[in-house]
Amino acid sequence: MSLKITTNLVEESKISSFDPDNIVFGRVFTDHMFSCDFVNGEWTNFRIDPFGKIPLSPTLSALHYGQAIFEGMKAYKNEDGVITLFRPLENLKRLNRSAVRMCMPELPADIFMEGMKKLITIDKDWIPSTSGSSLYIRPFMFATDDYLGVKPSEHYSFMIYACPVNAYYSHPLKVRIEETYTRASKGGVGAAKCAGNYAASMYPTKLAQQEGYDQVLWTDGDEHQYLEETGTSNVFVICGDTIYTPELSDSLLAGITRDSIIKLLRAQGKNVIEQRISIKDLISWHESKQLTEMFVSGTAATVTNIELFGYKDKNYTVNHTDNLLSKTILEDFNNIKTLKTSDSFDWISVVNESEFITN
Ligand code: COI
Repeated sequence: MSLKITTNLVEESKISSFDPDNIVFGRVFTDHMFSCDFVNGEWTNFRIDPFGKIPLSPTLSALHYGQAIFEGMKAYKNEDGVITLFRPLENLKRLNRSAVRMCMPELPADIFMEGMKKLITIDKDWIPSTSGSSLYIRPFMFATDDYLGVKPSEHYSFMIYACPVNAYYSHPLKVRIEETYTRASKGGVGAAKCAGNYAASMYPTKLAQQEGYDQVLWTDGDEHQYLEETGTSNVFVICGDTIYTPELSDSLLAGITRDSIIKLLRAQGKNVIEQRISIKDLISWHESKQLTEMFVSGTAATVTNIELFGYKDKNYTVNHTDNLLSKTILEDFNNIKTLKTSDSFDWISVVNESEFITN
């Protein structure tokens, strides 16, 4: 480890109040957090502190003009206590793509990896090892200038916190195909994992939830005719022997789980096609009974089936019980993440605790 991280540990861990058999998603946080600052054009002040509130000025530019980006990733602990991360450098690449689009500074790999691995090493007892659980890791960057004018901030903070989680969804999803509101349009920020994209999704999602759906399935901003993604995940549709997923564009988040599914299935000889998927085709595949499965993919969502989609006041049910490809994908991923099967894709980064032990 080369980064000098000042470490200030809690006097007493909160872990005795954490029940790994009753995990509520996103409500319990580990003992510590990693932080650093961007000042005078460079990243500095690397530290690990007790998890807690941070002082904010009312003028903080991220609060007003939205320069705020984040990532979602997970750490796993296998039966032998080995801690793994899944494709962490892909998260760093996406964070830096988001940073460029939002006119924020990029983060070097050593800060991202060493800050995260040290935090995980210190809080390793919080990584649950029950089936389906993991330690969710949230790296994020935000603008910290105290300035009223609209311009890119000169100061930023980058932080990482973590929380033990189970899968985000505990049941198959009911989604409503969106015809009115738009998540992202050509030339916009849809491919960036920026806070504003999630803010913009909340009102349409609330409307869909009031009608009994779990999520919105977004469509393209031009015509509302092509599937894009849900508010939390990418989407896959199986028709006959072919697995379709919307092709990437500047209005779609390039999910790392999405990419891993495509690579895994192609390596298994399956036919995966990335292309625009029209609602017209989706409904015609459903009517001809060729549509055998739909699922969403994401770090938090993992791989979760869609049991029903709604479009223009009509609901279409989808098989979510028999011969599910989603289940085998999940098992394959879990086996790779816990080193039960060999990591032939070179996706796993093992956290070598001895490198990060704090004296
Ligand atoms: C993730 O999957 O990591 C996300 O950022 C989505 C959010 C619903 C937690």
